[in-house]
Amino acid sequence: MSANRIIVALDLSDLDALKRLLDRLAGRAQRFKIGKELFTATGPASVELVHRYGGRVFLDLKFHDIPNTVAGAVRSAARLGVWMLNVHTMGGTAMMKAARAALGEEERRPLLLGVTVLTSLGPPEWAELVGPGGRPLEAQVAFLAERAIACGLDGVIASPQETASLRERLGERPLIVTPGVRPRWAARDDQARVLTPTEALRAGADYLVIGRPITAAGDPAAAMERLCEEIAGAKR
Ligand code: C5P
Repeated sequence: MSANRIIVALDLSDLDALKRLLDRLAGRAQRFKIGKELFTATGPASVELVHRYGGRVFLDLKFHDIPNTVAGAVRSAARLGVWMLNVHTMGGTAMMKAARAALGEEERRPLLLGVTVLTSLGPPEWAELVGPGGRPLEAQVAFLAERAIACGLDGVIASPQETASLRERLGERPLIVTPGVRPRWAARDDQARVLTPTEALRAGADYLVIGRPITAAGDPAAAMERLCEEIAGAKR
């Protein structure tokens, strides 16, 4: 069951590498994130390949455009049969509502998540962007997350630092998907402020996005198994 909580980030650039990784993770991992690198290089073929291996796909393309365009992109993604996809909440209320409406009410529709403020933007850059009197970064994250849920989105992507406060603010129902997670035994890579998988789940995350600790491990299946054992007792 723990494997259901882990979304393996497929930061790869071709189908051969994807196939090799899926072969090694077959039967262990069930959820995979396909982002801009892999999707731009391979298109829907990468989604189809994950599906052929029985996996579910979080299509992480962070749509951000006028409502009509985003609604069309969301419909196209839904046609690929993805499990989850996301939009930038900064696209605005009308855009989020259009994206949600494009998915309809079918029980098996994809889940729609919102990205608030990119974690690559720290407070100094945020202050510069919004100018004097602008909303502070943390308040903006909370504001956008609440807007997203009010527009019918199923949840938000949140950094480990934001997860606990967003869980408190949003309540139990909205999904929170948390990247920037590192077990103590893995390298931090370029992730600056991390939580362990157990800490992130206890903070209120529903799903953990984990890439290199699994994909760059000598034995990805063993790394996946170790992560699953680690979080087995930590359900929120
Ligand atoms: O390899 P690693 O575990 O760092 O991969 C994490 C994945 O989550 C990458 O695809 C990265 O782009 C994404 N991500 C992140 N931090 C965020 C948002 C997304 O690491 N704040």
